[in-house]
Amino acid sequence: MANRFYVTTPIYYVNAPAHIGHSYTCIAADALARYMRQALGKENVWFLTGTDEHGQKIQKAAAEANLNPQDFVDRTVSQFKGLWEKLNISYDDFLRTTEPRHIKVVQRALEILYQKGDIYQDKYEGWYCTPCETFWTAGQLAEGNTCPDCRRPVEKISETNYFFKLSQHQEWLIQHIESTPDFIRPEARRNEVLSFLKLNELNDLCISRPRERLSWGIALPFSASHVAYVWFDALVNYISAVGDFDAQGRYRSGWWEKDSQVVHLVGKDILRHHAIYWPIILKALGIRPPDTIFAHGWWMIDDSKMSKSRGNVVSPLEMADKFGIDVYRYFLLRDVPFGMDGNFSEGAIIKRFNGDLANDLGNLVYRTLTMIEKYFQGAVPGINTLDKQGEDLLISAKALSKEIALDGGWKDYNFWFVLERIWERINMANKYVEDTKPWNLAKENKTDELKSFIGLLAEVIREVAQAIYPVMPQTADSIREQIGRDRIKKGRPLFPRIEITNHTDDHR
Ligand code: ME8
Ligand code: MG
Repeated sequence: MANRFYVTTPIYYVNAPAHIGHSYTCIAADALARYMRQALGKENVWFLTGTDEHGQKIQKAAAEANLNPQDFVDRTVSQFKGLWEKLNISYDDFLRTTEPRHIKVVQRALEILYQKGDIYQDKYEGWYCTPCETFWTAGQLAEGNTCPDCRRPVEKISETNYFFKLSQHQEWLIQHIESTPDFIRPEARRNEVLSFLKLNELNDLCISRPRERLSWGIALPFSASHVAYVWFDALVNYISAVGDFDAQGRYRSGWWEKDSQVVHLVGKDILRHHAIYWPIILKALGIRPPDTIFAHGWWMIDDSKMSKSRGNVVSPLEMADKFGIDVYRYFLLRDVPFGMDGNFSEGAIIKRFNGDLANDLGNLVYRTLTMIEKYFQGAVPGINTLDKQGEDLLISAKALSKEIALDGGWKDYNFWFVLERIWERINMANKYVEDTKPWNLAKENKTDELKSFIGLLAEVIREVAQAIYPVMPQTADSIREQIGRDRIKKGRPLFPRIEITNHTDDHR
């Protein structure tokens, strides 16, 4: 394992407020960062998120809101930041692409590539999808001259632009993906990218837009009449936030060195940009590729992707207010294995809430606190002698942190597995209570057995609190506050029942 860990989320477009999909990537990155801080020390982890503020989409949204683009983005950015704060997203840095530190690095990168001859000018004639800001050749279009990605109508355009040579590094990229199994994950996504690269020769990437069509962008250093294409601008955030080019054009950043693991978490919608364009841009700049690009699945509503452009979005704030922040975080990471698509519904959250959280975890903590109060006046007893079932539970609880760290667990971005293993212990502990019937031990004055029994439960709960911390930080803190080393401090219940009206309509 590397000594240092650098994790990023996509920088989100600020044309509209964040929805559940955006919060998903941030929550996953946050859990990972919190886990890695425990493993490597706080100073060895860097968690970057931010906002993508240039381009056509934003220019258009600002015009519709009757604001100048800068005022418009400032407003949406504060909504994003407020949401992340509310959801306990512990980012170390928030990069905005309108910041001078970013603009400087983008322009420097363009200049370096232009001087190397990797960027050249050409006349472009073809089809353009404005919402996706993507060029298409006639052969790539879907039926009725529509965009093959979003199926909206495309426009015919003819203009002078600047292009970045992508195909020069195509063979290198295929090689790199083949020799580095962790580079693109999960495996299905890796195979998808590989077969795409093997079947298609890459077209060079158009990295400029004429100012007359788009003014809201970063100026191209070598052409007064163009701005940078928003995706080139955006991808560079991963290096502009943590470093800079020196006078010789060498990129310098502690977070991209050999001993640091660089992980980009993204949705599968932007896999091609991250797994193809970005490594080739880095290669051309003399910067090593990231270690892992993990493309997770989509949250869907009634089997269609939740998205700003479809307008079928659910507000994360509303969900967190209704169910609780940690409940919401838990649900997203527990209900669907990372990498797969999931159907979002309030009914599914309620099920997790009542089952895993209220009945299993909440009940274990509550009954343990109650017994410590009732039998030992709030003093947490130690473990002395245990029966076979108790021994097994103790061994299993002690093995938890290792089990979830290893392959298949945190190391594999497998939140689902991690939470499954934790709940296995919670369920074992609850079963132990039911099998042991502590009230009988008390009646029969078996004080030693009762002490060890309750001491063991407290120990299991401590292990569980430690293990759930990255996913449910507030809950973990609250448990540790209530069940201390020596004494308890019974506080608010962890998962107070929520009044839930009968849900016939599943998702609203
Ligand atoms: O693409 N399910 O920004 P964006 C799961 N600015 N995740 C989802 C989702 C869904 N239904 N919808 C969105 C951009 N996401 C560019 C990125 S990065 C250099 C530039 C998440 O606002 C997921 O992480 O469209 C997805 O990749 C991202 O939001 C897209 O956000
Ligand atoms: Mg999008």
